[in-house]
Amino acid sequence: MEERAINLFVPGRLCIMGEHSDWAGRYRNINNKLNKGYAIVTGIEEGIYATATISDKVIVENVESGDSFECEMDYDKLKEIAEEGGYWSYIAGVAACIKEQYNVGGVKIAINKVTIPEKKGLSSSAAICVLVARAFNQLYNLHLNVIGEMNLAYLGEITTPSRCGKLDQACAFGKKPVLLTFDGDRIDVKNIKVSKPLYFVFADLMSKKDTVKILADLNRSFPFAENEIDEKVQEALGVDNDEIVHKCIEYIESGDVEKVGEMMLKAQQNFDEKVAPACPEELTSPALHKVLNDEYIVSNSFGRKGVGSQGDGSVQVLAKNKESQDAILKYFKDVLGMDAYTLTIEETKPIKKAIIPVAGNGTRMFPITKCIKKAFLPVIDDDGIIKPVILSLAEEISDAGIEEICLVIDEGDKEDYDKLFKGKLSSEVAAKLSPELLEYEAKIQKIGKKIKYVYQTEKLGFGHAVSLCEEFAGGEPVLLALGDQLYKSDINESCTEQFLKNFAETNQLSVSVCEIPEGDVSRYGILSGKLENSKDYFYVDKMVEKPDVALAAEEYYTKCGDEKKYFAVFGEYILTKEVFDLLRDNIENNRKEGGEFELTSVLDQVREKNGMVAFIPKGKFFDVGNVKAYKRTFVEK
Ligand code: UTP
Repeated sequence: MEERAINLFVPGRLCIMGEHSDWAGRYRNINNKLNKGYAIVTGIEEGIYATATISDKVIVENVESGDSFECEMDYDKLKEIAEEGGYWSYIAGVAACIKEQYNVGGVKIAINKVTIPEKKGLSSSAAICVLVARAFNQLYNLHLNVIGEMNLAYLGEITTPSRCGKLDQACAFGKKPVLLTFDGDRIDVKNIKVSKPLYFVFADLMSKKDTVKILADLNRSFPFAENEIDEKVQEALGVDNDEIVHKCIEYIESGDVEKVGEMMLKAQQNFDEKVAPACPEELTSPALHKVLNDEYIVSNSFGRKGVGSQGDGSVQVLAKNKESQDAILKYFKDVLGMDAYTLTIEETKPIKKAIIPVAGNGTRMFPITKCIKKAFLPVIDDDGIIKPVILSLAEEISDAGIEEICLVIDEGDKEDYDKLFKGKLSSEVAAKLSPELLEYEAKIQKIGKKIKYVYQTEKLGFGHAVSLCEEFAGGEPVLLALGDQLYKSDINESCTEQFLKNFAETNQLSVSVCEIPEGDVSRYGILSGKLENSKDYFYVDKMVEKPDVALAAEEYYTKCGDEKKYFAVFGEYILTKEVFDLLRDNIENNRKEGGEFELTSVLDQVREKNGMVAFIPKGKFFDVGNVKAYKRTFVEK
């Protein structure tokens, strides 16, 4: 197998609602009368950064502290280290489980930076477990999806003396809230749409709690209730939690932040009434309740509750707005002398802006591009009208609800674009046009009002063309469409509409992809991951430009049941702010690839940190960038 280094980032996580229901839901394996567990979880900004390569042993080095760990990839030795406890036990625990299940070689991991605070209820131990599972998954092509990585990380962590629920491993999903459902051994995940930002503050109560005791006492109420206390614990973590979590999601999705806060208060009250009596020593939690009832915090927040296993560990507060969030943070630090952090969950905004770069030289289409830009080549759309490529594309984008379209053009071509999108017809031509074409001309004028330009004076590449739109994007996610690709949907919604709709659910850096035959992989940018049955998107594990067939067959296929599938870039992307930040950084530091500033490597860096979604629209794409593809486009589009 080829020796390669991969960069990894795994964030810490915060459970917003539904703690303890993960392990409680697991008891459905034994008692199916119990309720499923439900939890709302989000990754946070802070996390662990690392680089990993294949090795014959398990070697982990912390670059900052100089500490290191080394062990042979031997199940018994790894298991022994895992059972001893301590930081390295997590790594050994996960490696032992991987050896047992997959019998692969070892990994060498350099932990470059850790920004996640340890033992603050943010699951730093789970993050390291997920990181190790992810390193093995990617280096040995285990084809695990995020839930698969979570499961391995969980099995690894419970090999150690540390006790965690499966919920902790949800840091694998990146910084966005998800609903996790725990049903026996099965975990399901669903994205949550955020309609208004949620301003959280969380603080370490600087007190003590005994998680092992809390878990031991509460587990005693399962799987079958033997007394009234058990019944109440089961009720609280089962049916009550189900109701509170689902109401909370309803309010997050409708943007009623005050009600989200009320659900937090209700969850805490319910916990105090029904769960705390099962472990009063730990769960009476005076330090927590002092903060929950603190007048200043109460007046600045909508909701307050304990974190993680509860007890006097950490507290989370949902502030009323950005100002209250700052004020509460300051109050925790300056007045209460506690370590505190903020977490803002941004709303999922509909995309209103699009970028189309069309300033390339079009050398593959020489000599027609000597006199006609690729963007003005003719295509015949479904409506039977012959249009320039750029109009067909801008029309699809505009019809999908985009309000502003920024074309990256050569300054000298402005006149031609103006003529198409904004030019008025002479009365002579207007008089001769059919009513249908006159109506279409009115539509062109409407699209024209949405068109803006930025000029690319030097052809420094696709990534450079995109970066020129940073100001236009204004820090918001934007749609990017290649200027030489068109789409034809198989259903009522256009491919662009389908893509935007999917983003509204996932709220993550996205790329549209389509399945291609194995023999064609060397012609495209290929993205791979694991595609669940019945889903039309997957999380991207790896991306590569034009791999040869043998390499793709070994490393870059997407697993779909028992099948191997190959997915190529379809032509549309949704770029997030981080993409523009990295593009700017590359340009400022003159980091070119093949003489140009590229987009793919930047996308890959953002993917590593925040994840990336590959969406499969129901439709076909048509290329006009080379002669053979253009011929097909002209005939079949
Ligand atoms: P291509 O990679 O197809 O480059 O660009 P190109 O210059 O158009 O064509 P060839 O390779 O010379 O035949 C993909 C998209 O990015 C735009 C192109 O216009 C096309 O829509 N682009 C590319 C720019 O706007 N500026 C650039 O510097 C490069």
